[in-house]
Order: sequence, then C-alpha cells, then structure tokens
Amino acid sequence: MITRNRVESRDLTIGIVGLGYVGLPTALGFHDAGFNVIGLDISERVINSLKRGENPGDDPAFDGAIPTDEKWNITLNPSEAVPFCDVVIVTVPTPVLDDHRPDLRFVKSAGVSIFENITREKRPVVVLESTVYPGVTREIWGPLLEKYELEEGRDVDLAYCPERFVPGDPEHGVRQVPRVVGANDSGVCAALADLYSTLTTGEVHPVSSIEVAEAAKVVENVQRDLNIALVNELALIFPEIGIDVEEVLSAAATKWNFHRYTPGIGVGGHCIPVDPYYLIQKATAAGAPVDLISSARSVNANMPKQVATRILNNAAKLGRTPNNLKILLLGWSYKPGIADVRETPSEPLASALIEAGSKVYVWDPFIQKDELQDAPVIWVESPIDVSADVVVLCTAHQVVLEIDWKELRDTSELGLFYDGRRVVNMNDLRNAGWITAGVGYP
Ligand SMILES: NC(=O)c1ccc[n+]([C@@H]2O[C@H](COP(=O)([O-])OP(=O)(O)OC[C@H]3O[C@@H](n4cnc5c(N)ncnc54)[C@H](O)[C@@H]3O)[C@@H](O)[C@H]2O)c1
Repeated sequence: MITRNRVESRDLTIGIVGLGYVGLPTALGFHDAGFNVIGLDISERVINSLKRGENPGDDPAFDGAIPTDEKWNITLNPSEAVPFCDVVIVTVPTPVLDDHRPDLRFVKSAGVSIFENITREKRPVVVLESTVYPGVTREIWGPLLEKYELEEGRDVDLAYCPERFVPGDPEHGVRQVPRVVGANDSGVCAALADLYSTLTTGEVHPVSSIEVAEAAKVVENVQRDLNIALVNELALIFPEIGIDVEEVLSAAATKWNFHRYTPGIGVGGHCIPVDPYYLIQKATAAGAPVDLISSARSVNANMPKQVATRILNNAAKLGRTPNNLKILLLGWSYKPGIADVRETPSEPLASALIEAGSKVYVWDPFIQKDELQDAPVIWVESPIDVSADVVVLCTAHQVVLEIDWKELRDTSELGLFYDGRRVVNMNDLRNAGWITAGVGYP
C-alpha cells in the first residue's frame, strides 16, 4: 500500500502504462525523482526503441535522456511489470469514434492487463491520468474489479490524477504543472498527493472524489474550446461589418478582466477538439442540457470550412475560380514547433479546398512525408517549389515566420496571401508584393 513514509523514502515501484506523449515524461520524471520505474506499452516500436535507449517520440527534449540503470525497466509484457508495482499510472489514449462518442477501449484494455496481474498483498493504487468524463474510472474499471474478484480498499485502490502538461513547452512540463488528485480513500489520496509532489514543483490539489478530479480536467479543456470558439465566431462576424477582429480584441483586452484569445483556422491536438465530446456524451446521458458546449464545439469544428470559403472568395475577387487553383499550406501540425498532427485543422481545410476543385500543396519541415499519406495533398520540400497562386499560413512555426516573402512572391502569379493565424505583419507582406487577407480581416 502507498504511504507517506514510503513516498519519502522512495520505497515504491511505479508502473507507467502507455509510454506516449504523457507516459514517457511521467516515467522519466518519477525515475529522476528517485523511484523504481517500470514502463509498459503495447507498441513494439516504442518498447524496442526505449530498450535501445532511444527516444521513441518526436519531442527532442528526450533525445539522449532515456536511462539505463537498474531503476528503469521497460516491457511489453504486463506480467513483467504489474505484479511488482505499488502504484500503476495509466496514460493511454482516449480518442473519440467517428460519431464523436468516447472511445474507451484503451482504458479498458489497460485495465484488463493491470487487474489480471496485480499482487493483492501489495494493495497497489491504480491511477488513471487519461482525460475522460466524470465517472469513467469506476464505470470502466469497476466491472473489471468484480471480474477479477478484487475488492477496492482491500486488494487495490483507485485514483484519478489528470495530466495537464503541454508537450514541447519547457515551462509547463510534467515537473512543473500543478496537479489535481482524487482517490477512493482519503489516506491514499494524501499519500498520492505526496507522491505527485515529488514529481512536480507545482501545487498538488487533493479533491474529495475521483469524479471531481475527472470533471476538473474535462472542464479545463471545455473552457478553452468555448473561449476559442467565441473569438472564432467574432472573427466571422466583424469582417462582415468592416471591422478587424484583432483590433477589437486588442482594444477589449485593455480591460483588466478580459481574456485574450486569438482566432484561427481551427483547434487541433488530442485535447481541445476531443475532450468536450466526453462531457457532451455524459451530460446527454444524464439528461442535462449541453447547448453552449455543443455550439462551441461546432463553431470550432466548422472553422476550417469557413476559412476555406473565405480563401476561395478572396481568389474569386481576383478573378480565379477554385478549379486548378494552386494553394500552398504553410504548416500542417496543429501547433507551432512540434510534429503532432492529431486533429490538425489543416486537414479539413485542405479537404474543403480540394473538394472545391483546388490543388493543395503542403510545406511543413516538422512532418515526415509519410505522415501525410492519408491526406490527399501534395507534399513539397520547399515553399518556392510550388509557384502557388495562394499561400495560406496554417501553423506559425518559426521557420514559417522566417520565410523570405519577397522570394516566395516572385514564384506566385496571383500573389494572394492568407494569414490563418494572425501572426504576420501584413504591411511587410504587402511591401513584398502580396495581396493580403486573413482570419478576421474585413
Ligand atoms: N498529449 C498531450 O498533450 C496530453 C496532455 C494532457 C492529457 N493528455 C491525455 O493523456 C492521455 C494519453 O495521451 P498521449 O498524448 O500520451 O497519447 P499517445 O498516443 O502519445 O500515447 C499513448 C500510448 O499508450 C499506448 N497504449 C495504448 N493502449 C495500451 C495498453 N492497453 N497498454 C499499454 N499501453 C497502451 C500506446 O501504444 C501509446 O504509446 C490521453 O487521454 C490524452 O487526452 C494528453
């Protein structure tokens, strides 16, 4: 059983199930904090590269950072990990299905490999970190405890501690972000709060139940989706009345309690476009109203299509129909500085442009060509290779911002530039010869 004394003396073995964006830094963090760590994953690629001491992911922060000492063990086999663990932390994906219903198969399969292998005498605590709706930990794992005849509070404890860190952001890594923790037992919750305090310098905030901790996480991302949806909607309204949305937002932001967000081609990543569906599903099942959250989700989900229409309208004003218009997208990953393409809004934007008859080219030096295999776009090694009619800034990678706009303009016959992220100085672009447009400009 986990106790404060065992945390203090580092006398605990911590299993991490799922060694992706979240699990790997968590495992490394607990190892650095002095604990025995056993990492478990179902991906042979991930396990083999970790066993070779190589970083399996795309965050360069972990290049050369994979330990080789006896307190670091990695395996594909749950029976080589789970029986030895005092704490098992689960960091598996929680995506949505095509119809936006939560896909909890990974949480369930991780639960099976844990609960069929735990050592009851150890009374381990199993902590879910994956983002879910309130109730998932018990709904999915409760029946498994019954199946394997495990009694909560006697053979095993359950807890939930949402992950909040931002990959690629050194100021908000697993070692810095504040944490929320809820457990079935207040003593276990207090000991877990101590354990997480060895991982992070941020505050660790215990709550009264697993469900409160689950709800807190999903609400964080729902709030971001709502705030971004508001500025995205404003970016569709203000240009229609001849006003630049960014000028409005900058003016409003001089008030002390205004929250400043920037509109764009849409939201991406594993969290914001996904997590609200988890709460929508739970609220709907509970018969509770969920209108605002659903509307915000649809505003953000429709943003790439709205932007595609506006790009094509701008080209039409210059006498070009969508047919065979050559459009170059600068950036494909969902945010700057990383290679993560999950739920990237560039994809629905490209699809809408292609559906209208245009040819879409993509330049993103962070992305491997084969990651675009499923997308019907043309990959280019350099932006000047295309002779594009229209150039759309989709991801504000530093390399994108540093493009020589004059040189690129010389390759373009039409010379229409569209800023999908509101990050470039349009005067510079116009001086370089571009006709400019962008999200929220009149
Ligand atoms: N990526 C982020 O920025 C971030 C931030 C906060 C929270 N989250 C949440 O954390 C969770 C994990 O996200 P991620 O980005 O690390 O996902 P990921 O896809 O990068 O990694 C998940 C890993 O789990 C492994 N896996 C799947 N099923 C397994 C099983 N049954 N047993 C063992 N391993 C298994 C996969 O092979 C993969 O390596 C999600 O719920 C996500 O919403 C992610």
